[in-house]
Amino acid sequence: MKKLEHAKLSYKRNDLAPSISEDTINYHWGKLYKGYVDRYNAGEGDPDFNEAGAFLHNILFAQFQSPNGSNKPTGSAAEFIDKHFTSYDKFQDEFETEAMKIHGSGWAYLSKSGKIKTIKNHEIKNDIVLLIDWWEHAWALDYQHDKKKYLANQWKIINWNIISDRLSKEKNISENIDLARLKKLAGIAETKEENASPLTYVGTEKSRYMRKHNIRPGTDEWFRLWFARPGLTGERSMPKK
Ligand SMILES: [Fe+2]
Repeated sequence: MKKLEHAKLSYKRNDLAPSISEDTINYHWGKLYKGYVDRYNAGEGDPDFNEAGAFLHNILFAQFQSPNGSNKPTGSAAEFIDKHFTSYDKFQDEFETEAMKIHGSGWAYLSKSGKIKTIKNHEIKNDIVLLIDWWEHAWALDYQHDKKKYLANQWKIINWNIISDRLSKEKNISENIDLARLKKLAGIAETKEENASPLTYVGTEKSRYMRKHNIRPGTDEWFRLWFARPGLTGERSMPKK
């Protein structure tokens, strides 16, 4: 089984303050995120939950830099936001509206299709461009219950070069998935129905995408796409028995 990595920060633990305090980084990055990685690698708990938790935090912490009050999208990220939301202000408003609809633990993100989407608890997604952690542990220590202020201060630390980079990649950013385990799962599933094409069992949208891009079954990219939605735990992404 592949070991997941607890990705190092590209900045110092106090670099994101006051948007994210050093105490929150110590707990959130240093303990919680590491916990998902460690439990997955040790085979403890629910592997799908832990893997998705590690996956999302990996994306989250990679996209930050020191706060800057006038921080704004640049390059292709700016073009993308203008195209889909008409302005950065409207994008921020819509993001806040969607995020505030989350009840309980979850995430909000800008997707590659230019929509604001949410995730309940943890789930692996292949279309994340910009991700905000909406779990209580992300905001409670620094912002108590003021989630809007938390979000407003996250905009000050987004590294838009990273966001542009994610947009420019044709491939998804789910490198931290354990492909060997997924292939094993798929192998078990495929034997249940000998002649069925695995493509039969994914959403039509995904099938069309894979045909269009000539992504052949069994390749790493195919496995990533197949399992990326609705998530590793979703029955809909697996062949029926
Ligand atoms: Fe988190």
